[in-house]
Amino acid sequence: MQSSQTIDTLKNRLPLMQNLDGSGGTNRISPMENQQQGPSPEGEDQRKCSRIANIKQKVYSGHIYYCLVVMLIISTIFNLFFKLFRTIKFEFLARIFEFLFFESLLAILSFLAYKRTSLIHFNSLSLAKSRLLHRILQIFMVLIIFATHFSPIFSVVPLPDDELVTTTCYLAFGFWIHYGAFLLLLILVECFSTIVLWLKTKWSWKALHSIVPVIRQPLFTSENMHTIVALLLAIFFTIEGLYSTSVKPTIKNLHIKINNLPSEFEDFRIAMVSDIHAGPSVGKQRVFEIVETVNSLNPDAIAIVGDFVDGYIKNMANRIEPFKHFHAPYGVYGALGNHDYFFEPVDNWITYFSEKLGIKMLVNDAVILKKDGKELCFVGTDDLLADFLNVRGHILDVEQALSQCPVNISTIVMAHQPNGAAKVLREITRLNRRVDLILSGHTHAGQMFITLPFGYLFNLYFFGHYFYAPTDTQIYVSSGINYWGPPLKMFPSLCEIVNIRLLKG
Ligand SMILES: [Fe+2]
Repeated sequence: MQSSQTIDTLKNRLPLMQNLDGSGGTNRISPMENQQQGPSPEGEDQRKCSRIANIKQKVYSGHIYYCLVVMLIISTIFNLFFKLFRTIKFEFLARIFEFLFFESLLAILSFLAYKRTSLIHFNSLSLAKSRLLHRILQIFMVLIIFATHFSPIFSVVPLPDDELVTTTCYLAFGFWIHYGAFLLLLILVECFSTIVLWLKTKWSWKALHSIVPVIRQPLFTSENMHTIVALLLAIFFTIEGLYSTSVKPTIKNLHIKINNLPSEFEDFRIAMVSDIHAGPSVGKQRVFEIVETVNSLNPDAIAIVGDFVDGYIKNMANRIEPFKHFHAPYGVYGALGNHDYFFEPVDNWITYFSEKLGIKMLVNDAVILKKDGKELCFVGTDDLLADFLNVRGHILDVEQALSQCPVNISTIVMAHQPNGAAKVLREITRLNRRVDLILSGHTHAGQMFITLPFGYLFNLYFFGHYFYAPTDTQIYVSSGINYWGPPLKMFPSLCEIVNIRLLKG
């Protein structure tokens, strides 16, 4: 009876052995042969399969890196064509090559992720289970890659009322980013171990030889272990990130003391919300929830500090319709963000927000809020991206923005990017003007763990409350209410609406 079960088990494993060695049967072992091989045919069988898998893995690894180089060259060619057509003003072709360049960049990581996933093997499982898990992983990766490559299309097509499909695709994109990032990181570890082991054959440094036993450990060298670790980390951070964006927005209470604030504005409340990013992965329901939450704070004024949208007016008018329900007695004010430049010509958005949604857009402009005869100047700047893109009629012009404000009254400025806030600080130093508080967003406090270092390095102010002594100016950088692209954030508290209360300093 036991012998019969062993034969059945081996029969189940035979196809995988054929598949792994790729020779169509030269390594086929008959059940009877296996029975004659010794006291532990299953162990021997698994060891053989494992050896074959390891050899094949090494061969495939070589293939992977050649293919990656070819794909990188193709991607570079697409980029050159994109820049060429942009330079000679062939906008349609430029857009096509921009899309091809973006997709080919994605394809490089997709290829790497798929190949590494295909090479995973589970020595501790029976071959039947290992094969099943292997197939499931391959199908899973194909779906993830398909959804990832499909997701940029949602930025340029009419969006369905139901955001399930679009959000799912962007969630797959989020998983893909994590998986790719962890894989690349662990491939660097593999490269490091390979270099150390190679150097060991060339040099006889004692220190080098002493670390070789450590470097030889699977922790540094095992591609299989690294791929499984990257996969598990990506799953964990995707689920954790999705949870963080699925809960209700956090209300952050912020008390700002301003010197010489008129006593009439003591306790004046401003609801600050930035980075709504309405679009493929932020649907109407989420926008409605944000509007309701902001209104429930009963603010005196509302400040929307840029990055309203990711898309075109005609494709997503329905998703942003709740914006018109923002309500505050002293007004609803908006400043532009970099994403508001990405699709629709920004002047169309300015008109749409002002005329259709009742948001007073302050683009290098200001309003004087009056309370019992006293004044507070509320300013909005253009986005810093306009400076870099040379958008006609747009630049972050602090002098123009502040020209509407009487000198020496309490002044609050909205500047979407923290680097834009830094420009405001430089300009008010030059102009000898007063600004008490600058409100910024943009960084999403890094948004994801894997993107946090970039957000931190590329922004002069990153997240939270800062003070710039030379001009006696406070800066608050919000982590924003939402996210760009994948519906992922590090913590639920980073989806914030800031409930600002002004106090006399
Ligand atoms: Fe932004």
